[in-house]
Amino acid sequence: MADELNPETPETEEEPIKQRKNGLYPGVSDELAESMKSGWADTELTGLAPIAQAEHTAARRAALSARFPGERLVIPSGNLKTRSNDTEYAFRASTEYAYLTGDQTHDGVLVLEPKSPAGADGHEATIYLLPRSNRENGEFWLDGQGELWVGRRNSLAEAEQLLGLPAKDVRELAEALKEATGPVRAVRGHDAGIEAALTDKVTAERDEELRVYLSEARLVKDAFEIAELQKACDATARGFEDVVKVLDKAEATSERYIEGTFFLRARVEGNDIGYGSICAAGPHATTLHWVRNDGPVRSGDLLLLDAGVETTELYTADVTRTLPINGTFTPLQRKIYDAVYEAQEAGIAAVKPGGEFRDFHDAAQRVLATKLVEWGLLGDLDVEKVLELGLQRRWTLHGTGHMLGMDVHDCAAARTESYVNGILEPGVCLTVEPGLYFQADDLSVPEEYRGIGVRIEDDILVTEDGNVNLSAALPRRSDEVEAWMAALKG
Ligand code: GLY
Ligand code: MN
Ligand code: MN
Repeated sequence: MADELNPETPETEEEPIKQRKNGLYPGVSDELAESMKSGWADTELTGLAPIAQAEHTAARRAALSARFPGERLVIPSGNLKTRSNDTEYAFRASTEYAYLTGDQTHDGVLVLEPKSPAGADGHEATIYLLPRSNRENGEFWLDGQGELWVGRRNSLAEAEQLLGLPAKDVRELAEALKEATGPVRAVRGHDAGIEAALTDKVTAERDEELRVYLSEARLVKDAFEIAELQKACDATARGFEDVVKVLDKAEATSERYIEGTFFLRARVEGNDIGYGSICAAGPHATTLHWVRNDGPVRSGDLLLLDAGVETTELYTADVTRTLPINGTFTPLQRKIYDAVYEAQEAGIAAVKPGGEFRDFHDAAQRVLATKLVEWGLLGDLDVEKVLELGLQRRWTLHGTGHMLGMDVHDCAAARTESYVNGILEPGVCLTVEPGLYFQADDLSVPEEYRGIGVRIEDDILVTEDGNVNLSAALPRRSDEVEAWMAALKG
């Protein structure tokens, strides 16, 4: 962005106008400063309808309130993070804050204030936000975060209508928190200023209980969240189609063409990608989190594409397809692919209400171990012994899935008893993503296996009577993948 300001330092005693972070400063005459204060239309909006998830965020706050009676709860959105000099990383609100408010602005803080210290009457929720930029002191046009530079913010009154919460100026919050008495818990890691204000009032153990609660509360998705996850999967399917259509351009350039193509879909239909896209061609497919994406894309190799669109309301898909770059699997690629497909089918069949979270992992691992034994890769050992010793894991490498939601690895702070050792309920959404990975330098397998990696990953919602595959728009069976690619490539 060109900054046409001249570098003179103003000769003022006081500094009513904030200096831009880049150190340049406009020579501002009194007349210009005066001019910039006035002559602006009143753009205040009234009669705004609440955001679509307002009822859901209210219910989530009510559940949080019931869990921590009589305690002040502080949930920050987070601050901008400097990338370099006066540029910032793209901001994404903390999951906890967005889940409880539906707001996504930086520097916001949700505070639940107990109505009575005894805790009998619940909480009063208030959202603390940056207000509109001040025009009197020049903030709106001279500060790097002024609205003239970064765009209009909602006024506090507008935010109240949209979010269904009283809104106050966040710049007064830290001082108020310092003076507040009574028990407090805060979500850590997002706002150093708020944490500093609370430093002698909170403990790590009590804050961790709040973090755990907010992770476990998200294990079962409400109707709004399920609709968002479906949107994320649908947009992701379109992103995968985009990629198949440009594989020739990727062959002429690199994996980056695939990354950029998917990113375009994510930005146009959603907020962002939900995690760094893994665009792994050829032997890169055996590197689980290959996000450098700077390698060649070659006909005859496989492309492992693991990518997800994050919706504008911050729910992400997490989908993997392993595709033959020229449209047809070789016999060995197909053999390995079909084994992973069979494992995924077994895994998906094990996702049902009342079942254990571990069941789908065990089912998929059993299929993969059986295939590895059949292919002679495990000597004389039988499948039971292989599973007992976990020897298949040399090639299966990772767990078969995880919770999915606002975070790609959602609910990560949930306790073992409610997640890994938990029982599935309707509304839980998880990935089923078995894989087989033969590293390029793995001397324990025949040479032709080396450098082949296959993963198939879908997003599965537990329902009352079984499950639904939210990412079923993308084909999985090897012959269906080939037909789909042929149709897209024309
Ligand atoms: N994309 C990361 C994962 O599949 O868990
Ligand atoms: Mn995953
Ligand atoms: Mn994935």
